[in-house]
Amino acid sequence: PIPFILDTDTAQDDCVAMLVGLLDPESDLRAVTMVAGNVGFDRQVHNAWLTMNAAARLADVPIHLGSRRPLMREWVSAENVHGDGSGGLDLDLTGLETSDEHAVDALIRLTAESPGELTIVCIGPLTNIAMAVVKDPRFVANTRALYIMGGSNNGRGNITAAAEYNFYVDPEAARVVFEAGFDITVVPWAPLTLRDAVFTRERLAELDALGTPLSAFFRRVCEGTLAFDESVGIPGSTHPDSLTASILLHPELILEAADYNVQIETSSDLTRGYSAMSWGVHDLAANARVIERIDAEGFYAYLRSLLALPTAPE
Ligand code: BDR
Ligand code: CA
Repeated sequence: PIPFILDTDTAQDDCVAMLVGLLDPESDLRAVTMVAGNVGFDRQVHNAWLTMNAAARLADVPIHLGSRRPLMREWVSAENVHGDGSGGLDLDLTGLETSDEHAVDALIRLTAESPGELTIVCIGPLTNIAMAVVKDPRFVANTRALYIMGGSNNGRGNITAAAEYNFYVDPEAARVVFEAGFDITVVPWAPLTLRDAVFTRERLAELDALGTPLSAFFRRVCEGTLAFDESVGIPGSTHPDSLTASILLHPELILEAADYNVQIETSSDLTRGYSAMSWGVHDLAANARVIERIDAEGFYAYLRSLLALPTAPE
């Protein structure tokens, strides 16, 4: 199994990414670290518990609470997209406890305990990762790789014309991370996610027909964002975060990838969080592998196989 940490702003597809980490036998999910992002911080923690419960692994993996706001900016919610991030599900959390250790300290400690072995799947703003870079000079070398969901490599954003949400929310953190020297793989919003990781209503109905507790959970979580997605012309629900975790565990899903120099815009208002991905006309050293095409049918079949698993949530 592949050991990793999930750094997440848990709502909608983050929940599905967590299911991947909890259910796949190829996965060794060591910890969840929470970062300010999609919805209110405490709601994100609640959504993470809901997801662990759906996987019948409630409290099996520690949740470390991290940065409650970006490094230098006000928090920007995506509640207009995600609602509460779980389609209105609720659970009595009495007795459940998150770790006392801050997410940034957990990231530093866990990677130091097994240097070069742990990957971090980063599916929210990069605040926790940047904080760990700044706090401990050994963190970069101790981390095997980062798998980052963020940015676009055709210039098209989803929160502004130019920027994808995760990089928009904390562009300074993204910049620190891309300049730090990690081995980085990027799953971009556009064009990759919009072409290869969108599930139409027809597909969602097929998954719902599995009739398992996991498929019911998945339907609730996806429905929360479907209306928004369709209102902006996306023909279904989007799954970039679960794709990011999936390609770590199943690299055979990657059909095309290329090395790019990636830089994040921090000074402009208009293009804040824009990811400049150089396409080779510039003499700039590559700092990331960018995923350009995946086996979309294989990804769908893989998630379907996970959602078909029997679980017994509480
Ligand atoms: C990213 O932001 C969130 O809405 C999703 O979970 C994903 O991480 C897409 O821009
Ligand atoms: Ca996310």
